[in-house]
Amino acid sequence: MSANICQPLNKNKKVNKETFVSSLLLQMTLKEKIGQMSQFNNDDKKLKSSIQKGYVGSVLNEVDINTINELQRIATQESRLGIPLLIGRDVIHGFNTIFPIPLGQAASWSTELVETCANIAAIESSSNGVNWTFAPMIDISRDPRWGRMAESLGEDPYLCSTLGVAMVKGFQGENLSDTTSIAACAKHFAGYGASESGRDYNTTNIPENELRNVYLPPFKALADAGVSTFMASFSDLNGVPVTGNSWLLNDVLREEWQYTGPVVSDWGSIPQLVTHGFSVDEKSAAFEACQAGVDMEMASDTYAKNLPSLIKSNNVNIEKVDLMVTRILTLKYDLGLFENTFTQSTPLDEHSNDFHLYVAKKAATKSCVLLKNTNQILPLSTSKITSLAVIGPLADDGYEQLGTWVFDAKINRSITPLQAIKDYVGDSIDVKFSQGLATSRSNNQKDFNEAIQIAISADIAIMILGEEAILSGEAHCRSNIDLPGCQEQLINAIYETGTPIVLVIMAGRPITLEKILPKVDAVLFAWHPGTMGGPAITELLFGEACPSGKLPVTFPRTVGQIPLYYAQKNTGRPASDATFVDINDIEIRAPQTSLGMTSTHLDTHFSPLFPFGFGLSYTQFEYKDINVNMCSVTMGESIEISATISNTGCFDAEEVVQLYIRDLVGSVTRPVKELKGFQRIYLAVGHSKTVVFKVHTDELAFYNRQMKLNTEPGLFNAWIGCNSDTDLKIAFEVILEQ
Ligand code: GLC
Repeated sequence: MSANICQPLNKNKKVNKETFVSSLLLQMTLKEKIGQMSQFNNDDKKLKSSIQKGYVGSVLNEVDINTINELQRIATQESRLGIPLLIGRDVIHGFNTIFPIPLGQAASWSTELVETCANIAAIESSSNGVNWTFAPMIDISRDPRWGRMAESLGEDPYLCSTLGVAMVKGFQGENLSDTTSIAACAKHFAGYGASESGRDYNTTNIPENELRNVYLPPFKALADAGVSTFMASFSDLNGVPVTGNSWLLNDVLREEWQYTGPVVSDWGSIPQLVTHGFSVDEKSAAFEACQAGVDMEMASDTYAKNLPSLIKSNNVNIEKVDLMVTRILTLKYDLGLFENTFTQSTPLDEHSNDFHLYVAKKAATKSCVLLKNTNQILPLSTSKITSLAVIGPLADDGYEQLGTWVFDAKINRSITPLQAIKDYVGDSIDVKFSQGLATSRSNNQKDFNEAIQIAISADIAIMILGEEAILSGEAHCRSNIDLPGCQEQLINAIYETGTPIVLVIMAGRPITLEKILPKVDAVLFAWHPGTMGGPAITELLFGEACPSGKLPVTFPRTVGQIPLYYAQKNTGRPASDATFVDINDIEIRAPQTSLGMTSTHLDTHFSPLFPFGFGLSYTQFEYKDINVNMCSVTMGESIEISATISNTGCFDAEEVVQLYIRDLVGSVTRPVKELKGFQRIYLAVGHSKTVVFKVHTDELAFYNRQMKLNTEPGLFNAWIGCNSDTDLKIAFEVILEQ
């Protein structure tokens, strides 16, 4: 069959979607069907010829608009049926304009901001021809050794679900067929964040109850919110790798959740079933993945090579393949690709670029978390400072501040902290700069003296340290999460000068700061803040904006505490200060005993360095008068929990008010606290606001021993506060009937 004899696809869109797709399916040969299930990387040598034959459903990693249009031309004008291509790209936290890494965006606790950032990413990437992104990554992440925590929305199912839905809305817009909308992808389904020892791709063992109560809720939330696609994880889940896990991909995703969108494998995760020792060969891997319900194979060809024979031998039935291809064709229809296949080159105008940069700055500003501010050294006052020392390998590096998963950034648009500080202070303050270290990993102290000298003569030393972008992200995990290299030694050296230190940290994960905390007067945690990290950090340091970020993950004191997260179970011997025994306080030859002991380490206090939800402001907020509108709420109804927050400090500011709830007794043990609501409010100095949270009893449900989602009657505690360590508490009861 000549490739040039292509029957122009009946583009008569008068027929409805189902008719259009089913009639197209009827025309397809088996190889064309399997072609739709195959995603090629853009560097594949057989790409164009395979597209011409109709053997490619999607291309990933191509972002050149002319190349994409040419590939779409071949697909729609040279292949027999003219089916357009899905063009996939990891647009994780921006395309040309880079926003804070997702973990940083999560620290904003702002659904509006997260949605806007995703929407701009969709606008920029779709203008290049991209129509599918592999985001949001909604893996619950409770191990900061894991490099991919940087891509996540943190440790909590409620926060991750809420922000993940906002990100999907941003990517997909009001209508998926809008030219600026791109299909989103819930990944990596599921439980990938539980990779043992924080090593990427490692084994995950998650009891079904924990899977359903902690790791699955964000995926369910995104499925219910209409996320277009799912991605199967690399990981081995309880002995059955997800890519071949029919229980997860069929029973849960399809049967229980009734999800109808396509599932794509992760990169090569189908042939990796052989490496897992789950499949004897690639044919078996293709069989397992197909039977499990992986609709499209990313960057490998086990489907193309093996499905024809598997179908011929009736090991795989064609009806299953037809259903999988239908999902893919339906997505292309929903994206409007059959009608609007080609991308018009419309360079973004300056106004758009200015707006994108404005949002990037706002996102970075709201993502930064103030962890320490002794004696209110911040905000800095230009009237009281005549000289500043800016020190550190991340102070003036427009690439490193972008963070992981950045491929298409316009790096020259980055504004670094050094640049922004100099622009801000102008001639009023003498600013001297020393990197102090060549990179964040360097152990070469040759430039220490230069840094020391400028610190000695400065009123304040602003140190900008942390992790280079490459030290987090996929496959970039750390067994030690201190500041890398000899950055701590650099802090000590500057500390010895006596000049006060304001420490700004850029990193893709929590850093263990306990040792250096006493040496610095203030700590602003900026994650990797993106293109406009410099102006955002500067505005915060000089009080043009007030820090309002809150931690989306727990900061441990030491790596030995991991996993450490706020929503832990109480255990039968909960840790407490009453029973904590410091290793140094144990008598020599103390008698062996476990009586009265509790769940603590001997050599580290059991509390985190900074708890989930923590973040300081330049002002002070007072929380009081927590209340409920009823002492007991009947099952199936809602209760209102409120508190009054006052700005008692000297700065107008925003605050993220958080609601936590505990189910005191359950048929399975329940966490000591669970986030069930948050509201970002603005309060002028001296003003107060009563914040009300309305909670339906359904929101208190959990999967019980029978794996049934159910709210159980009984006593509950509720807290409203500025972080998960809050003690402003009130009790209420859930009853079956009045
Ligand atoms: C990677 C990642 C996945 C990404 C995909 C395409 O290996 O695991 O998150 O979307 O490949 O780049």
